[in-house]
Amino acid sequence: MAIIGSTGQLGSDISNVFGKEALPLSHDEIEVKDINSCRKALKDADTVINCAAYVKVDDSEDHPDEAFMINAIGARNVAIVCNEEHLKNVYISTDFVFDGEKEEPYNEDDDPNPINTYGLSKYAGEIFTRNYCSRPYVIRSASLYGTKGARGKGGNFVEWMIKKANNNEIIKVVDDVVMSPTYTKDIAKMIKNIIEKELPYGIYHVTNQGYCSWFDFAKKIFEFLDIKPLQGLRGRGAEPHNAKLFPIKPDELNRKARRPKFSALESTKLKKYGLEMRSWEDALKDYLRERTGGVK
Ligand SMILES: NC(=O)c1ccc[n+]([C@@H]2O[C@H](COP(=O)([O-])OP(=O)(O)OC[C@H]3O[C@@H](n4cnc5c(N)ncnc54)[C@H](OP(=O)(O)O)[C@@H]3O)[C@@H](O)[C@H]2O)c1
Repeated sequence: MAIIGSTGQLGSDISNVFGKEALPLSHDEIEVKDINSCRKALKDADTVINCAAYVKVDDSEDHPDEAFMINAIGARNVAIVCNEEHLKNVYISTDFVFDGEKEEPYNEDDDPNPINTYGLSKYAGEIFTRNYCSRPYVIRSASLYGTKGARGKGGNFVEWMIKKANNNEIIKVVDDVVMSPTYTKDIAKMIKNIIEKELPYGIYHVTNQGYCSWFDFAKKIFEFLDIKPLQGLRGRGAEPHNAKLFPIKPDELNRKARRPKFSALESTKLKKYGLEMRSWEDALKDYLRERTGGVK
C-alpha cells in the first residue's frame, strides 16, 4: 500500500490507519511530476494512494503551471504507472470541482464545473486517474483538518481558530460559504474500508456527514472548547480568554480564487454499500478531545 504524500495532513493519517501494510512515500522519495521517479518508487506496491497535491487555492491562480504539474500531470504519471503494473490507484480530490450553484449537497452523479484553477487542476487529475488507469478510485473530500495540519497551507482551520482566540485576536470568518468539514482520520478509515471491501472502481464522496458555514464551524469549535464568544469567560488554557468572532462576506477577504458558495458533499454510493461517515459535529468533538484531552 504505497502512500504518496505520506508526510501530509491526510497522508499521515492514511499511513497510520494502514500501519505495517503502509509504504509511506515522502516527497523526498517520489516526485509525481517525474514519471521515472514514480516508476521507481511504486515498483513494489499493489495499491497506490495518491495524496500528493498543490493545495494552495489562491496561489494556484498565480502558479497554474505548478498546480497542474502536481495535481493533473502528477496524477497522470501515477495513473500510467499503476496501469502498467496493474495496481489500484486511489486519487484524492476535492469539493472544489463543483461550482457551488446547486444549493443542495453534491453526490457522485453531479457534473463538476470548477470555478478556480485549483479545482480545475484537481478535476483534470480525476480524469487522468479514471481514463489512464483501469483500477481507479477517485475519493472526493472537503475542508480537511487533521492532527498534522496541511503542509501546503501551514496548518488547519481548527488550530487557526484556537490560536486566534488564545491570542485574543478579532476573528473574521465567512458566513455564507457552506461546506462539509471533515476529519482526516475518518477519511483514512473509509478509504481502507473501500479498498478492503473491494467496492467497484469509480468516484466516491467521503466527507463527514452534514454541512455548515465556516462561521458556524468556528462557533462550534469554540462551543465545544467552552470558549464563549465575546464574554471573556475562562477557557481551558491557563489564561482567561474569549473568542471575538465576527461573520464577514467572502468579498471582504480579497482572495485571488473564487470559492463555490455551497460545496457540501453527500454520498449515495457509500450508503448503497452499507457504509457511513459520522456527523461533522461528532468528528470535530473527537478531534478536539484528542488534541486537548477534553471537550465540553
Ligand atoms: N486540505 C484540504 O482542505 C483539502 C480539501 C479537499 C481535498 N484535499 C485533497 O486532499 C489531499 C491531501 O491534502 P492535505 O491537506 O493532506 O495536503 P498536505 O498536507 O499539503 O499534503 C500534501 C503532500 O503531498 C506532498 N507533495 C507535494 N508536492 C509533491 C510532489 N510534486 N511529488 C510528491 N509529493 C508531493 C507534500 O510533501 P511536501 O510538503 O514535502 O512537498 C505533502 O506530503 C490533496 O489531494 C488535496 O487536494 C485537501
